Amino acid sequence: MIALGSDHVGYELKKIIMEYLDEKGIPYKDFGHYDQERTDYPMFGEAVARAVASSEFEKGLIFCGTGVGISIAANKVNGIRAVVCSDCYTAKLSRLHNNSNILSLGSRVVGADLAKMIVEIWLETPYEGGRHQNRLDLISEIEKKECN
Ligand code: RB5
Repeated sequence: MIALGSDHVGYELKKIIMEYLDEKGIPYKDFGHYDQERTDYPMFGEAVARAVASSEFEKGLIFCGTGVGISIAANKVNGIRAVVCSDCYTAKLSRLHNNSNILSLGSRVVGADLAKMIVEIWLETPYEGGRHQNRLDLISEIEKKECN
């Protein structure tokens, strides 16, 4: 199950991706924002991040104008590895090497077709594990230091 969230700027692209997920039969839950009325991205980044960090949701897709602000908010939650992507290579490698669990897209950066391609690659690419796991463990160590 995929958790989705956006601010007002990312809302239209989120709708396009929700239609794409519907076509593919991939289940999801939208954590808002639910229209284009001006709002603030941090709360939606946090909502999706908490849904993924709790393991209730496998992965998250988040959207704002650049994908940057909402990803910064999401990455404040322990266990979240949110990546801003505007190309397929980064999307693929962020799964293979970084086990990214949230994909962030900028509605003012990527067009609908590229966004769908990035989402498809990101969703279908597994984490490679192996030599990369130690690096992710080191990131978890940083999180533990921040909690104390
Ligand atoms: C909102 O104007 C815009 O700043 C937001 O969507 C996002 O791009 C922030 O990173």
